[in-house]
Amino acid sequence: MAQVQQAISPPHRLGFLETLRKDRWWVEPALVFLGLSVFFGWLTISAFLDKWEFEIGPYLSPVYEPKLHGTFDAFWFSPALLILWIPAGFRITCYYYRRAYYRSYFLSPPGCAVGDVGKSYKGEAGFPLILQNAHRFFMYGALVFVVLLWYGAIRGFYNTDELIDGQAVETGFGIGLGSMVLVLNAFLLMMYTFSCHSLRHFVGGGLDCFSCSKWTRARKRVWDYVSLWNQSHRFWAWTSLVGVLATDIYIRLVANGHITDPNTWSGF
Ligand code: FES
Repeated sequence: MAQVQQAISPPHRLGFLETLRKDRWWVEPALVFLGLSVFFGWLTISAFLDKWEFEIGPYLSPVYEPKLHGTFDAFWFSPALLILWIPAGFRITCYYYRRAYYRSYFLSPPGCAVGDVGKSYKGEAGFPLILQNAHRFFMYGALVFVVLLWYGAIRGFYNTDELIDGQAVETGFGIGLGSMVLVLNAFLLMMYTFSCHSLRHFVGGGLDCFSCSKWTRARKRVWDYVSLWNQSHRFWAWTSLVGVLATDIYIRLVANGHITDPNTWSGF
């Protein structure tokens, strides 16, 4: 009888990390732990690395977009810190990332049907996790960042610097590997934002009738798109994170003279 009761007990009653699962359930949380530590770790370091060049010619690292350096150089802190709290807040409160770090960092629960570190489930109704509800407000800011990042990507096709490291460089429209990297980065971040659960609610939520007017029909069409993209939100979350990191590292390597960017402006 006691054996039967144990077999049907919910995992959190069996104890921490206890489970009836036979698969390698711990592989995904372990990989997520590693990935988030590396990617968020680098981006945090990068925000403070403002003394290591992050801009060259028409290329500016997305960590420092929009361009505030020059305006705030007199302050002791990196200009990235003035802007990064919006995309950082957007990611930290993201529904997908919540699931990922609740499992991988808080072990609460470590996996589906695996014993929780806590004895009871408290949800997000109390402090501090109630702050996760700010996600929809960060989403409004993230929409502005989509525009700013595309502006930065398009600017990546127009060089205005006449001298780079003392060498004369052509100015005007052109194209380089860095331009393409910036476009890809803007695209991935746009898709991450456009597939957001809060955006889906924003465009199509709270309606009782989709077909009642031109306005609601238009909202339905947008909602259909966001719903489609939303199905791959995890994919966009990871690819956009890798994209920001890769773009930042690429531009820094070019800007600090470690590699050469192939481009049509006679090289830099
Ligand atoms: S739910 Fe992930 S960005 Fe909104």
